[in-house]
Amino acid sequence: MSLFTEGKGNTPLSADERADLIPNLATKEELNEWERQNILEAYAWALAPNNLRRRDPLAEPYLRDLHLRMFDQTWKWAGAYRTTEKNIGVPHHEIRERLAALLGDARYWLEHGTYAPDELAVRFHHRLVFIHPFANGNGRHARLMADVLAQRQDRPVFTWGGADLVRAGNFRRRYIDALQAADAGDVGPLLAFARS
Ligand SMILES: Nc1ncnc2c1ncn2[C@@H]1O[C@H](COP(=O)(O)OP(=O)(O)OP(=O)(O)O)[C@@H](O)[C@H]1O
Ligand SMILES: [Mg+2]
Repeated sequence: MSLFTEGKGNTPLSADERADLIPNLATKEELNEWERQNILEAYAWALAPNNLRRRDPLAEPYLRDLHLRMFDQTWKWAGAYRTTEKNIGVPHHEIRERLAALLGDARYWLEHGTYAPDELAVRFHHRLVFIHPFANGNGRHARLMADVLAQRQDRPVFTWGGADLVRAGNFRRRYIDALQAADAGDVGPLLAFARS
């Protein structure tokens, strides 16, 4: 009998996916569970009152450090900006410049009260996934960044539709639709989704 049953909901990882993987895993389901554990530790770190107070989330190294903490036990390239093109995101050589602009804008918004606290965090989330700085984990990283920015402004963390967005489905569809509305300049649906 084989160790791993192939079949529905038991998707094997591709050779590429396995190459940079730190643990020895065979299926997407095992990977999802492994990542979830890794990310839970990063959440606890990021949202701990001491770290929230002491760390500046709008400093560029924080972005990389947070990604590293979310995926350090999973991917060899955790915390490193991508060096290849994806079907989403800016050209990879523009990542640093675009991030610097986003961090500068967000700092300005924060200091000048340009947006209500939730809107600031959600706009930041949208701009960050639009840049797509990492090879993977951008959605989860940018959602945690938005949660950190909400908490820094004394707001509760977001609910993000109240479902597991990593899985395909209705919630995922609503989330992506809301991101696309934000691409077109309307941040309203994403703001509503994040608090639903
Ligand atoms: N069509 C799209 N338009 C805009 N943004 C998109 C689109 N499709 C995906 N995204 C964003 O990219 C993210 C997926 O990128 P990536 O795989 O790097 O992140 P992830 O954290 O691994 O994924 P997930 O969000 O499934 O946990 C989505 O979560 C979403 O934020
Ligand atoms: Mg992904």
